[in-house]
Amino acid sequence: MAITARPGLADIKPYKSGEASIEGRDSVFKLSANENPLGPSPMAVAAFKECLDGLNLYPSSDHSALREAISERLGIDSDLIVCGNGSDEILGLLAQAFAEPGAEIVYTKHGFLMYPIFARSVGAQPIEAEETNRQVNVRDLLAACSPRTRLVYLANPSNPTGNRIQSGELEWLANHLPPHIILVIDGAYAEFNEPADGSLDLATSRPNVVTTRTFSKIYGLAALRIGYGIGPRSIMDAIARMRAPFNVNGPAQAAAIASLKDREYMCHSQSFNRQWRQWLRLRLEASGVKCDDSSANFLLARFDGAKKALDCDQWLRKDGILVRRMESYQLPHCLRISIGSETANHAVADSIDHFMRR
Ligand SMILES: Cc1ncc(COP(=O)(O)O)c(C=O)c1O
Repeated sequence: MAITARPGLADIKPYKSGEASIEGRDSVFKLSANENPLGPSPMAVAAFKECLDGLNLYPSSDHSALREAISERLGIDSDLIVCGNGSDEILGLLAQAFAEPGAEIVYTKHGFLMYPIFARSVGAQPIEAEETNRQVNVRDLLAACSPRTRLVYLANPSNPTGNRIQSGELEWLANHLPPHIILVIDGAYAEFNEPADGSLDLATSRPNVVTTRTFSKIYGLAALRIGYGIGPRSIMDAIARMRAPFNVNGPAQAAAIASLKDREYMCHSQSFNRQWRQWLRLRLEASGVKCDDSSANFLLARFDGAKKALDCDQWLRKDGILVRRMESYQLPHCLRISIGSETANHAVADSIDHFMRR
């Protein structure tokens, strides 16, 4: 008998990350992956370097020092925290632990592309809830749930739209979801969202709400792959049993702990993003390109049709600028532009302005 992979795996469209290079160019402005243009905190870099002498040693398996640092910083019990190799790992573990073949996992029309991949990887059916003008409606999410639903994945702020859901609406959803469904509030961009959305309170007080956070975005540690989940003890205990013993490497744990101590860096990261997001949005709108109000570290630029967005992408590439095309998110008339360095922001704003006026 031939070897066959689990049914459903062949239906997975592999995730494509933001492009990083353009053939024939030595350097580019990479605004395609929502990375932090400031780089990590100097304290994180120093902590990382200190690990170089101990690369022969296994890292902490229970991540106790990091969980303690997160617990202190957020004022929550460290038993409610599980660390992962990126928040991606935590999101995937939730599907592995709680959804079985034939179950359903609900997410929204323009939701993060990993959600259907997590569903299919465990043989579950991904179910897409409608969005209205790129805005998640919690009533539509609830309507998409059934007795077979195990998880609802919801990013707040959302990637790629940058839109946020008000905390009252999140609470409404948590109140109305049947108790057999876990609401997973993906907070990859939570620290850019002002004011906070209340997901931490929900995850520490409800039996079926989990939220995730990452060090990849606000803390600029994407290369180290480190994130965490917060939720009820029974749920966190289940995913902690499934993870590999050394799922988070030592330098990543050390750098994350140091990052949490550097409040100045964190505040600068937030205010830099706030300032340049507003600046770029005004520049784009002055060039005739509309954007929704973003609560994250990127903007979703809307063009008059897919052809114009594609032409603009080509134009930007010619200027050495990489942004993210949005066909796979069912937004072919849009381009997602990460907030970059001052130079990169000027470059993308000028290039789009020339494109629109040509
Ligand atoms: C909405 C969303 N969730 C989760 C992630 C995963 O982040 P990481 O695995 O780097 O923590 C990303 C990364 O871009 C994201 O955009």
